[in-house]
Amino acid sequence: MSQLKDKGYAIYDYMESLRYDGIEKDYEALLSYFENLPIDDYAPELNRYRRYSRALVLPTSGNIEWLPDVKREGNEYAAYFQGKFNPEHPGSYREFHSIDSDIRDNKLLKKIIMANYHETFWQKEDKIMPIHVGVHFVKLMVDNDEDKAVSSPDCLHQDGEPFTFAHLIERRNVKGGMNAIGIPEVRGKQPEEVDKKDLHEFFEISKPLESYGVDDSAVSHYVGPVMKDSGDDSAVRSVILIDYQLTVVADMDE
Ligand SMILES: [Fe+2]
Repeated sequence: MSQLKDKGYAIYDYMESLRYDGIEKDYEALLSYFENLPIDDYAPELNRYRRYSRALVLPTSGNIEWLPDVKREGNEYAAYFQGKFNPEHPGSYREFHSIDSDIRDNKLLKKIIMANYHETFWQKEDKIMPIHVGVHFVKLMVDNDEDKAVSSPDCLHQDGEPFTFAHLIERRNVKGGMNAIGIPEVRGKQPEEVDKKDLHEFFEISKPLESYGVDDSAVSHYVGPVMKDSGDDSAVRSVILIDYQLTVVADMDE
């Protein structure tokens, strides 16, 4: 049984497990793409930058099919709906700057999407429909000693999508940015407010493509605020977050 299925979360080293000829070059392309991520319009004061696109994984072919963007004032946006579990944006519809097509075609990104997909587990009848994949590129960056950048939401939480994976792209001059995994019942709390026995693990991802995944209904998770460690350089923590959910079919009885 996989660790994800067994414990509700798993920690990975995808630079090791996906290793192929050219992985460094593909990683460098992703890394440099993070340099110019647009500011997160929904949280400009929080030192957060992001792009987002949605795809389908087709269960028979295993192909990744990217969904179309909305064009507005010369920019491409991807629509985003997050369920009821994000207390900062309950049931909200948002639009994010989408991920450019050359990066969508990045071989390493595709391999990561498929590696995560193969970790997820579903009822047999659910896999008749495509699995929806949300790909977020998120960078937290802090220039000033007194500032901090926070993830959303800033507490132990569940996302509402059945599975979420986080892949570290870069961690530079960062203090903080720790991860915690807890039981579902501690959602809404800070890790330090929680009884130690209710936290499964407290850890840090620091190397490129160190990653973790959660079975959302089985655990809650948390990422701590990012601050500058030392010196003049900005603190940067960049991750690719990927969530997986079913095609939702309307319930005609309701
Ligand atoms: Fe989350």
